[in-house]
Amino acid sequence: MKLGILSRNRNCYSTRRLREAAVSRGHDVKVLDTLKFSIDLEQGEPDLFFRSKQLSHYDAVLPRIGASITYFGTALVRQFEQMDVFSANSSAGITASRDKLRTMQVLSRHQLGMPATTFVRDRKDILPAIERIGGAPVVIKLLEGTQGVGVILAESVKVAEAIIETLQSTQQNVLVQKFVKESKGKDIRAFVVGDRVIGAMRRVAQGTEFRSNVHRGGKTEPVDLDENFCETAVRAAQILGLRIAGVDMLESTSGPQIMEVNSSPGLEGIELCTQLDIAGAIVDYIAAQVDFREIDLRQRLTVSRGYGVSEIHVPEGSEFVGKSIDESGLPERDINVLTLYRGTTVIPNPRLKRTLEPGDRMLCFGKLEQMRSMIPDRVRKKRRPKVGELPETEVVHDAEQRAAESAGE
Ligand SMILES: Nc1ncnc2c1ncn2[C@@H]1O[C@H](COP(=O)(O)OP(=O)(O)O)[C@@H](O)[C@H]1O
Ligand SMILES: [Mg+2]
Repeated sequence: MKLGILSRNRNCYSTRRLREAAVSRGHDVKVLDTLKFSIDLEQGEPDLFFRSKQLSHYDAVLPRIGASITYFGTALVRQFEQMDVFSANSSAGITASRDKLRTMQVLSRHQLGMPATTFVRDRKDILPAIERIGGAPVVIKLLEGTQGVGVILAESVKVAEAIIETLQSTQQNVLVQKFVKESKGKDIRAFVVGDRVIGAMRRVAQGTEFRSNVHRGGKTEPVDLDENFCETAVRAAQILGLRIAGVDMLESTSGPQIMEVNSSPGLEGIELCTQLDIAGAIVDYIAAQVDFREIDLRQRLTVSRGYGVSEIHVPEGSEFVGKSIDESGLPERDINVLTLYRGTTVIPNPRLKRTLEPGDRMLCFGKLEQMRSMIPDRVRKKRRPKVGELPETEVVHDAEQRAAESAGE
């Protein structure tokens, strides 16, 4: 295959290893500096230029996008997606993983362990929010920090409040997280490729430090992860749209708790620790996927007018309960059930004879009008946009005010 590694630094360990792994497997590989691309848009013809020359054909790209160039980097990956070039990680996945709040928001609707987390703006809300997550001590994090910078342990509510206010006064957004005591100074990095954890390590902080980042002096040891940790890591990566990811988890008494997901995980730490050929596994995986691209379902399926993707809930007492999908009348109405969510279980492509249970959620593709008619009447009425007329006096008032303002009054 012809593989492009999108990286600014061809000499760093990860890029070098990935390139070597591709070369040794006989692939045609180029390291392409992310910032040397131009993105051209024209009707029906998304295009890319590299160092001002039209880019030749690539079978796949592997984005290694640094945090400081997320905007341009994800725009570039999105362009490859529009041009039907396989990208090992999706642009949406990279974007979601870049911000700790966004990651947690996307993951929190799924049944995955995570430390209770809160995001507040008004100082009056800080105290109640800390109480809701179980009180001090709490961990305070900058949304876009990495390598342990901007992660602070606050022993008391007073200290927490002071830190949060200080950070906010410098226009920094912070999230507040329950401190998982039993995991103090330790965390797990699971390296996910496709639907497998191909290697994992435990990082252990030194001395009194509670952050286990290697950049903070943390030491690593290889671990054999149990099924629960592997499953959690793989699902988190999948939900975010990442096929290659470093998933960081705390080992709490109630099982794995996800802290963050990295979309360009470094290879040096994990390869040296586990002595596994991680780079080789990544390249082999991409080569096997090239002809079997995953596509952005929503983007593709919503192009026919009136058709789209929607979720249908089966609440307690619904007429669907106890009926099979076939009997529910969905197929008759031209609605396909793509995935069935039942508690913590995900059932892709459910059989038509599968019986529906209260609490089920079905991800469906079909006529939007038909799917809308399945939502209870009360909710549906509220959703329909109503356009009334503005009271005349207010409109005049505002327009006058604006005119006065722009006249410098
Ligand atoms: N809620 C928490 N409870 C206990 N330790 C934590 C918690 N959150 C973070 N840590 C520790 O701090 C380290 C850095 O936090 P993390 O969220 O991964 O930020 P960064 O992106 O800077 O690595 C983690 O590796 C872990 O050791
Ligand atoms: Mg981390």
